[in-house]
Amino acid sequence: MHPPLRPFLAADHAQALALWRRTPGVGLSAADAEQPVAAFLARNPGLSFVAQAGPRLVGTILCGHDGRRGMIYHLAVDTGHRRQGLASALLAASIAGLRAQGIEKAHLTVFRNNPEGLAFWARAAVARHELALFSVPAFPHPVTPDLHSTHPPRESGP
Ligand SMILES: CC(C)(COP(=O)(O)OP(=O)(O)OC[C@H]1O[C@@H](n2cnc3c(N)ncnc32)[C@H](O)[C@@H]1OP(=O)(O)O)[C@@H](O)C(=O)NCCC(=O)NCCS
Repeated sequence: MHPPLRPFLAADHAQALALWRRTPGVGLSAADAEQPVAAFLARNPGLSFVAQAGPRLVGTILCGHDGRRGMIYHLAVDTGHRRQGLASALLAASIAGLRAQGIEKAHLTVFRNNPEGLAFWARAAVARHELALFSVPAFPHPVTPDLHSTHPPRESGP
């Protein structure tokens, strides 16, 4: 049995960032700093969740939508709590929230060098091999430095 879920609060940021930093496969960027995460949560109520075991935050999912499609970020489960259905439960909570808001589909990205993430999503989602992902920077140079993880590879997040 996995730890219970509750809504992701802005006050969870420090613990969430610590989990993301110690979790290989999670790419971090300036969008993961305290203020942007608080703004994301305020803009997307009822869609992002955490799991807490005692005082320790051991699972996260960030989810939002633009009125057309949902986006999922930072589904992460701490090592000691994996293969108990926790990521599946976090995903189900976010998808239920999207459904309640009339959003029919959500997208997410996974680093190709993340076998655990790929294995999870291969079961939980539909791989879109016909699509390629492109990113367009809105500023010519980064406005704020990326919040790199403590583990290699030091890639910037989606
Ligand atoms: C990917 C991740 C979130 C899965 O969390 P989890 O709580 O262990 O996942 P679940 O227990 O809900 O797994 C559901 C199913 O996904 C598949 N799965 C999950 N992890 C797997 C792994 N390491 N290898 C193979 N299959 C896996 C299994 O089919 C599993 O069902 P089963 O345990 O009955 O066989 C976790 O491994 C993690 O945090 N990884 C690092 C961060 C990451 O990769 N995030 C996803 C990319 S955004």
